[in-house]
Amino acid sequence: MKQAIKPLAPGYYCNPEVFKQEQTQIFGRHWWLIAASHELDQPGDYVGRKVGNYPVFIIRDDNGELHGFHNTCRHRAGPMVTDGHGSCPGKLLVCQYHGWSYDFRGHLKNAHSLNSAINKADYSLYPIRVATWNGLVFACADSEATELIEWLGDIPQIAARFPATDQLSPHGTIEKKGRTNWKCYADNSCEGYHVGLVHRSLGSTTNSDQIELKTFSNGRFVGFDVTYSASVEDPTRQGAGYWIYKYPGLLLHFSEFSFNAECVMPESAGEIALKRWFWINRNQAQRRGVTADSLVQSARTVIQEDLQICERVYENLAAEIYQPGVLSVADEPGTIFFQSLVREDYRAGKIDK
Ligand code: FES
Ligand SMILES: [Fe+2]
Repeated sequence: MKQAIKPLAPGYYCNPEVFKQEQTQIFGRHWWLIAASHELDQPGDYVGRKVGNYPVFIIRDDNGELHGFHNTCRHRAGPMVTDGHGSCPGKLLVCQYHGWSYDFRGHLKNAHSLNSAINKADYSLYPIRVATWNGLVFACADSEATELIEWLGDIPQIAARFPATDQLSPHGTIEKKGRTNWKCYADNSCEGYHVGLVHRSLGSTTNSDQIELKTFSNGRFVGFDVTYSASVEDPTRQGAGYWIYKYPGLLLHFSEFSFNAECVMPESAGEIALKRWFWINRNQAQRRGVTADSLVQSARTVIQEDLQICERVYENLAAEIYQPGVLSVADEPGTIFFQSLVREDYRAGKIDK
């Protein structure tokens, strides 16, 4: 008999101590999708949010360049911007606590009564790394992490088969919170085993013999090469498609006439925040009887169904009855791969429950 592959133990999902270690040893070391480039269109446009346990923001300067910083003033750690989107009037960032101001490159410009007492060059904002790919803006808090393009591995090669975002029009976002662990959502995103039962409408468009799952070491992701069956219930899924789950928290969905990208941000052991951005070729979609709104609505239904099942799984893991069961090599190779990546990072970061 072959050796059974056991899933990760519940303690890795539910223990807040593990989450704390994941924040520095995993989340702080990866690239995170923070915004779409078109959301940071004009000089002074910014997006603030958390990457792991770091509040950060990204801002566009007068030359059109993007800069990322910890959202932490060098005076007494006040916030520079509020979370979410905004635009900074003028050419200065002003701290919300006592009003020290910085330029968009993070240089301290005015420290009021301390101007002559300190060397302002010693008090620039703490930078974080920013990089873009395919209209997506990523941030990384680790100065030693690989470049974004290396981190993406084979993904750009796969993306080249589908329209890029500059050939599509942006069409809205979905934001959702889930009461589950980020790994429950990833375990689920890496297998098509649940599709027939959890996504009944999607099930009729994606038979398992039309999905080819592959795991990629170069970029650490799981790819699903999909050929959709025509379906009256859900015309938004047609032709060829490709779904990607990229470790630790990025989902990409390519189609012949649309694209969407989702960031899965872990907020605590039992909470995640999802944000998904959509792009569409309206003419092509229209020719196929699909509207931009129906595309977003179909995705919303699928996300809701995934969150619901992941929340129930998390509840059961936290109830301390379940002991690790067994994973199927035939049906869950993506989840097995994902968990091997988690174990690899746990070993490297010395994370233990
Ligand atoms: S904390 Fe920023 S000005 Fe005081
Ligand atoms: Fe799903």
